[in-house]
Amino acid sequence: MQENFTDNNNESKENLGVYISTYGCQMNVNDTDRMYSLLEMVNFNPVSRPEDADLIIINSCSVREKPVHKVHSEVGRYKNLKKSNSKLRIGVGGCVGQQEKKNLLSDVPLLDFVFGTDAIDELPDIVEKIYRNDQKIVRARFEHQKPYQIQTLNRNPGISTFVNITKGCDNFCTFCVVPFTRGRERSRSLNELVKDVNSLVQRGVKEVTLLGQNVNSYKSECGAHFSKLLEVLAQDTDIERIRYTTSHPKDFDQELCDVMARNREKICEYIHLPVQSGNSEVLARMNRGYSRKEYLDKVLMIKNFVPGVSLSTDIIVGFPGETEEQFEDTLSLLEEVEYETLFAFKYSPRPFTKAAKFEDQLSEQQKSERLNQLFAKHDEIAFPLAKKYEGQILKVLVEKHNLETGKVNGRSTQNKLVHFSGGSDLIGKTVSVEITEAFPQTLRGKRVEL
Ligand code: SAH
Ligand code: SF4
Ligand code: F3S
Repeated sequence: MQENFTDNNNESKENLGVYISTYGCQMNVNDTDRMYSLLEMVNFNPVSRPEDADLIIINSCSVREKPVHKVHSEVGRYKNLKKSNSKLRIGVGGCVGQQEKKNLLSDVPLLDFVFGTDAIDELPDIVEKIYRNDQKIVRARFEHQKPYQIQTLNRNPGISTFVNITKGCDNFCTFCVVPFTRGRERSRSLNELVKDVNSLVQRGVKEVTLLGQNVNSYKSECGAHFSKLLEVLAQDTDIERIRYTTSHPKDFDQELCDVMARNREKICEYIHLPVQSGNSEVLARMNRGYSRKEYLDKVLMIKNFVPGVSLSTDIIVGFPGETEEQFEDTLSLLEEVEYETLFAFKYSPRPFTKAAKFEDQLSEQQKSERLNQLFAKHDEIAFPLAKKYEGQILKVLVEKHNLETGKVNGRSTQNKLVHFSGGSDLIGKTVSVEITEAFPQTLRGKRVEL
């Protein structure tokens, strides 16, 4: 489909510029890429500044903080652009679009359209109608019945790229809005994913990160589970490296560890395993489906079967009713597991969720204090953990070259960012690097020939 949407308005036939601002998780980052690709097919050129755009899309997130407020203030910043460019149309997509639907149009009058997380592929059609009829549009229905069939669309997949394997989430953790903004869980077919990864390999991709809210509950229509998918991708495609995120502790099983152990050359030994709390009562009220002990048993299993594994986690502090003692269980769990990376958040009540109605919500001050305490504890742990890499030789997939510093950087299989001297010829290559100096999140080293 190649059309010029502004024809009816007798305006110029040149390509229009599209700017998308992105919030939220990797899923949204990946969706933004898809939006750009779809819009490019109908003559929109991606631009890097909203000032140069004729179409602005806010790909929003509602997992924490005041999402509608954020949309309001961002759209407000574009008010003058709308005055100076009569072609400019502004839309909101992503999780806030899904959550708020038509309410957003009345709340934010400058908006022209709102679309939900299942309506991304309708974007060219929505935009065409917006320009043709100059009427506001809302499309935010879930596609619960349709199979999840897509092709990864990525204008420039580069060396490392994301591949969606599931969408939605059926877990309904009591704090989380995602099941309401992404709908019921659906998995893509195994064959489609193999084809997709093969075609990315042909475009020069060396590493894929399999994406889903809960990747290890993946189940293809032929009954294949996540571990099967991982093994098939590792053995039947030429992809060099495979990562995945996010895995849910309750669905992390022995089989997955076995597949990782059998395919160590390809499946990276980095696992993001969100715990949320170190206290079993809090975990039960969160509806996480595991106790502290069950979580720790899984960590032990992972450490036994995936040597050198690097773990990261998500933690929520100040969940309704969390006592000081229960919070201390989270601090001690941090020490016990030894996470290299921590993502921690203050609990924030979300619409539609059960926990938002729980009594005994904590004060902002209590939550802030606990968050600070948690980060301070992690700082104590993270530095010695990083130091252990000094002297080790890591395999680094080079992604970037900095002309000014003469250095390159890339990620080790443990997901550590490693900087070392080298030229642009190394981009896309996996090289051995001896670590000379370690910081909590980055490592410095020198290339070695093995
Ligand atoms: N599917 C992933 C999480 C996706 S949301 C999982 O189950 O692990 C990413 C993170 O945001 C969560 O792990 C949680 O730590 C945080 N989060 C989600 N809802 C939240 C809320 N209401 N308040 C604070 N943090 C929240
Ligand atoms: Fe949210 Fe829980 Fe689903 Fe993760 S598993 S997306 S935290 S409901
Ligand atoms: Fe945010 Fe939606 Fe992702 S709420 S975290 S963008 S799934």
